[in-house]
Amino acid sequence: MTQLTAPVPPVPADVPPGGVAWLRATVARFSNGADHVRRRALAVSLLAEIDENAVQDKAFAWTQRILSEVEDVDVMAVLARPVPVGVLAEALGLPDVSAEVALVAAAYHPHVTPSEAAEAAMGRLIGACGGVTELAAARIGVLVQACDATAGLIGNALSASLAGKPGELLADPPVLRTRRRVDGEDVTVELTGTPFGAGPRECPGSAHAIALATGVLQALRGFRLTEAETAWVSSPNLRMPSVLRVTRGSSAGGLC
Ligand code: HEM
Repeated sequence: MTQLTAPVPPVPADVPPGGVAWLRATVARFSNGADHVRRRALAVSLLAEIDENAVQDKAFAWTQRILSEVEDVDVMAVLARPVPVGVLAEALGLPDVSAEVALVAAAYHPHVTPSEAAEAAMGRLIGACGGVTELAAARIGVLVQACDATAGLIGNALSASLAGKPGELLADPPVLRTRRRVDGEDVTVELTGTPFGAGPRECPGSAHAIALATGVLQALRGFRLTEAETAWVSSPNLRMPSVLRVTRGSSAGGLC
């Protein structure tokens, strides 16, 4: 746990403006020292403007609207990623950039080489979020940080309910590990027992994430999973379903 107070492994700072590498070099998540404090304060102030009850209600209504138009659906692709990000974007006064955010989220971490599609999505996000500025990076960072992790909260709770477990929202957290630099070495730090991290980099979006996930899951009441086996994302640091199909009807495996 004490390792969580160590710096994050630094990312290259001398990068072309506006791409995925620029995003990494400009958000709180991969910054240290005074840069981290200033950039984190930007993210915190953006989130402070967003009412949690309002986003829970919006996530519920948005999910219900999508579900009213389909018979069965892959929760991960159609609800768990786009709804929380779309609702947050709207609350930040932005257009629905959830497709762009999903592409960038898949390329966000420094070990990934961004695809052309991710770089193109970054260009559109920069356009929507106000240009190549630290504030735009904070807006994009908030949406990108929300994307996979909140989808994981939703997917894991739904999947647990299929297995007959209570589906407790935080019982099976999606973010398992993170990275720090300790004595000049990059190390993996387990997040066991801290669903949202701890210390100076603890997730500033936890209350919003819980509200958004709760809204989506409430709208899925009465639906049931259609497949007995859950396919999991193959990532050492994330645990969440890759696909989770549901359909109408409340037989065993439905959310209650
Ligand atoms: C509304 C949704 C979310 C938003 C806006 C959000 C935002 C952020 C931001 C901006 C950071 C970087 C903080 C910093 O470096 O100072 C962060 C870190 C973190 N978030 Fe979230 N997050 C969300 C959802 C989640 C969820 C659902 C989880 C897992 C259950 C999660 C787990 C974490 C963890 C573990 C860290 C710390 C990583 C580390 O210490 O290396 N977040 N989040």
